[in-house]
Amino acid sequence: MRHFLTLNDFSKEELENILDIAFDLKKEIGNGISSQKMKDKSLAMIFEKSSTRTRVSFEVGMTQLGGHALFLSSRDTQLGRGEPIKDTARVISRMVDMVMIRTFKQSDIEEFASYSRVPVINGLTDEFHPVQLMADYMTMIECGKIDNPKVAYIGDGNNMAHSWLMLASKMGFELSIATPKGYEVDEDILGTALENAKISGAKINILNDPKQAAKDADVVTTDTWASMGQEDEKKQRELDFKGFQVDTDMMRLAKSDAIFLHCLPAYRGQEVSEEVLESSQSVVFEEAENRLHAQKGIIVWLDTHRG
Ligand code: CP
Ligand code: NVA
Repeated sequence: MRHFLTLNDFSKEELENILDIAFDLKKEIGNGISSQKMKDKSLAMIFEKSSTRTRVSFEVGMTQLGGHALFLSSRDTQLGRGEPIKDTARVISRMVDMVMIRTFKQSDIEEFASYSRVPVINGLTDEFHPVQLMADYMTMIECGKIDNPKVAYIGDGNNMAHSWLMLASKMGFELSIATPKGYEVDEDILGTALENAKISGAKINILNDPKQAAKDADVVTTDTWASMGQEDEKKQRELDFKGFQVDTDMMRLAKSDAIFLHCLPAYRGQEVSEEVLESSQSVVFEEAENRLHAQKGIIVWLDTHRG
């Protein structure tokens, strides 16, 4: 049995295989066919943080596959009142066929998975957002950006930056991450990515100059300056991230046919300008839709690898 906790747990071939399934399912549903691959199966979705895309895409995805999804907010379950993760995992995984969790610590989702009888999917932690990157890569493929693309991530060294590190280092493309000083990516995660890069041929550039990162990029991406759980730091971060907004001038440094990606929600006037977000280079809503298709691919792949 396999879990989907970080992209690092998967080989390049496995990630490509998941995306092949996702593209097939996208085509099927576009033709009005619902393959019922999860017929009568249930997905528990545990949310300890807010969500629009993740909740809707997983829930609708399960419906389209003939199954059912349960929304479990930690505020309304015994988990929120202190029931241990290991007990919750053993109870829920005896009743459902798969679990998706959005929480704070990566170690909590790993603990849950270690006690679970069924596959567990990471729907975002403070460290990683792997399902988002599957949708992002799917969008890059659709936009023809997979022939040695240069990706520029400009902003906070957060869960999205870490997940880009994992994707680039597995797939073997060039990634430049530019963060303000003091907001760099985690050193251990960077170390893992650099090890992967030795095998895949990926080129990883860690910078503090956003313009250097954006130069000649095929894909420019960013994320909120204050992630969920960092609301108190918002004001300070706005000061510290000055000069890191992806605006029209920044996009001009990239290739003329570069695309703009953002996991959303986006904060206009902060990490991205209104103009860039609404420009013809922005494919953020195609990217958001691909959450649905990519995750259906993940669900079906995990279900067929249960042994
Ligand atoms: N990108 C993303 O995960 O969005 P939500 O927080 O709305 O799920
Ligand atoms: N980095 C953001 C991503 C939201 C989808 C957060 O963790 O809040």
